[in-house]
Amino acid sequence: MTDVSRRVDTDRGFRSVAGRFATGVAVATARGTDGPVGMTVNSFTTVSLDPRMLLICLRHDCRLLGTVRRTGRFAITVLADDQRDEAAWFASRGRPAGTEGFAGIPHDRERTTGCPLLTDGVAYFGCEAVRTDPAGDHMVLMGVVRSSGLLRPKPPLLFVDGHYARVADGVRA
Ligand SMILES: Cc1cc2nc3c(=O)[nH]c(=O)nc-3n(C[C@H](O)[C@H](O)[C@H](O)COP(=O)(O)O)c2cc1C
Repeated sequence: MTDVSRRVDTDRGFRSVAGRFATGVAVATARGTDGPVGMTVNSFTTVSLDPRMLLICLRHDCRLLGTVRRTGRFAITVLADDQRDEAAWFASRGRPAGTEGFAGIPHDRERTTGCPLLTDGVAYFGCEAVRTDPAGDHMVLMGVVRSSGLLRPKPPLLFVDGHYARVADGVRA
């Protein structure tokens, strides 16, 4: 058998290997006493159907994690392919916290958690945080889904090889 594999042992190499796994893009949100918090994530995955559970992996120092630990709730909005600006905004380090961080971005309160959902997204989940587990430089945040629903009938935004991308085959809306 021909060995076509190329071994990669550096951190940069690991990122480029991992980047071959195409993901969707979501904004995870929470609402604390100092207002709404949101950040872009692509570590989202569904975990269980019964009960309905999902997880995201968060850096220890991100602002969202502290708010979720205090409130026990969070929401996820899956972004549409025309929401690259929103994805970039919620991933930019210096953006303001609280209401100002959501200025100009259509959003509403998710009904079971009260956390913001981005109404221009394609789907959302409202979650109760049930556990956080340390995993290296991240924390795994696990949630039980209390509500979920569809938003705009648009294709989802993709992220692959460090870039945003579109679904080439289109999707059923
Ligand atoms: C496409 C994309 C996906 C991301 N996914 C994650 C993720 O899953 N977990 C994470 O901790 N940071 C992720 N980030 C980085 C955070 O969005 C970014 O560090 C953000 O500024 C953190 O929020 P904070 O500044 O309020 O702490 C991602 C960034 C991009 C562009």
